[in-house]
Amino acid sequence: MTSTAPHDLADHRRAIAGTTLAELFTRDPDRFAHLSFAWDDWLVDLSKERLGPDTLPLLIAHAAAAGLSGWIAALFAGEKVNQSERRPALHTALRQTSDAPLMVDGRDVIPDIRAAQSRMRTLAAQIRGGLRVGATGRPIRSVVNIGIGGSDLGPLLVCTALAPPPRARGSTGPQTQGVDVSFVANVDPEHLTRALAPLEPATTMFIVTSKTFTTQETLANAASAKAWLVAALGQGVDVNSHFVAVTGNSAAARAFGIASADVLPLWDWVGGRYSLWSPAGLPIVLKLGWERFAKFLAGAASVDAHFREEPLERNLPVLLGLVGWWNAAHLRHAERVVVPYAQALFRLPAYLQQLVLESNGKCVARDGGALAGPTSPALWGEAGTSGQHAFFQWLHQGTREAPVEFIVPISATHPLANQQTLLVANALAQAQALLAGRSPEAIRTELLAQGVAAADLDAAVAARVCPGNRASTMLLMPELSAYRLGQLLALYEHRTFVEAVLYGINPFDQFGVELGKTLAGPIVAALADGAALPQDTDASTRGLVAHVRARSSLTGR
Ligand code: F6P
Repeated sequence: MTSTAPHDLADHRRAIAGTTLAELFTRDPDRFAHLSFAWDDWLVDLSKERLGPDTLPLLIAHAAAAGLSGWIAALFAGEKVNQSERRPALHTALRQTSDAPLMVDGRDVIPDIRAAQSRMRTLAAQIRGGLRVGATGRPIRSVVNIGIGGSDLGPLLVCTALAPPPRARGSTGPQTQGVDVSFVANVDPEHLTRALAPLEPATTMFIVTSKTFTTQETLANAASAKAWLVAALGQGVDVNSHFVAVTGNSAAARAFGIASADVLPLWDWVGGRYSLWSPAGLPIVLKLGWERFAKFLAGAASVDAHFREEPLERNLPVLLGLVGWWNAAHLRHAERVVVPYAQALFRLPAYLQQLVLESNGKCVARDGGALAGPTSPALWGEAGTSGQHAFFQWLHQGTREAPVEFIVPISATHPLANQQTLLVANALAQAQALLAGRSPEAIRTELLAQGVAAADLDAAVAARVCPGNRASTMLLMPELSAYRLGQLLALYEHRTFVEAVLYGINPFDQFGVELGKTLAGPIVAALADGAALPQDTDASTRGLVAHVRARSSLTGR
């Protein structure tokens, strides 16, 4: 792996710097054919990215020189690619279809995965079938997942994206929604309070999902959930049957009161943000059933096989990662924008923020040395078409360019087919508008025809010009099903890994998150008990703590 960009790529960037996207399309009438890639009914169009005719071959040569193929092999083989924590990153093992042994520290992890899947499946079937009862003997009807970060975002995204629409009012047909599943992540008591408000304690169960079982937010919410049950069901009632844990720290879960049989494993070779394929996906199984979860895993496995076996030049995660790295490291874009044209995927940007930014928001090289260039751009987005009426103005006429990734499921099963056409057409039109923009000449002609006065014309034209020449990638997927969503998320996982290899960083640790957690401790003590802040606390933090304490004493007035 290298952390320096080769000179030929830097020279190449300089050589194409003055060339517009429109000129690139004019020079190569077959540009779309040359830069769009089909695989398994997906189409990834890179032709609107700032790539000259030689850019991709140069990027592929760079990836080969950086040892990308070796890194891919190491990832799948369970080598300790998370070097700072001396661990493998084996989320791919969780969706491995065969039982071929996969050794971690001399132990085959596949039988452990199969055993955990079997327990998930059985537990979910019991709960969905009304066989799991709470402390009063009534069947569990509602499940609340308590977890944060990777213990929340992935399962929440999948449940949100794939849940069937609520039953029509007055419908008497069979219940198809599985058990009612909700998610609580934030330590803000509002989150838990709102989630619990419609629920009946006697029929509610909590999944405490925490790899470490030390996360402050999760433990606080779990304790409050227990207090809510005890307050409703009575002091003497053992409410522990209302809890299940998914954790790598089974001792802490048992100490909380959860029975061993209700503690599902999370292994240290699965990163939190890659854990939705593991027992952390239990809420998905509860919501959608095992069969759809299995399809979700199978979709991801199909991308794993593609990523592992396809040559670099036809490998979708590799191509996407190369372009992402080119945009960040060479074109120096500080942002990227993801816009799923599917309301069901409205949580995708939040999920990707953790996946991408916790993975690749690093400022040291894998070996602890300095980096030659920037790492991950910021990532943000919103579902289309809603985003069009918010930040697309900035994308079209702002002073900075941020490459956009459009993610568009083409077909949908709902009955309003004409609206689906509107949705897909809007995605294509926005990408076209970013590329083409709107020229002053065309606007001038239009305004003159409308009779705009000559004195007002220049300013009116200038305000309306869209410069265009703004890059985007289009990902067309056939539809949004469990299988296709598994593919989409695996595609983004692997492209994030590819980018990390090219940045020269370890995408599997997250030490930056720890600092804020550590510093919160003394501030909690200062606010709650008036404890003195550590000597080295800065004046601003001291002032803010004093202000909050003074204001807190006014509460209730
Ligand atoms: O945000 C930091 C982080 O460590 C994430 O990586 C992780 O997904 C999240 O906290 C939750 O951690 P845990 O599952 O251990 O509660």
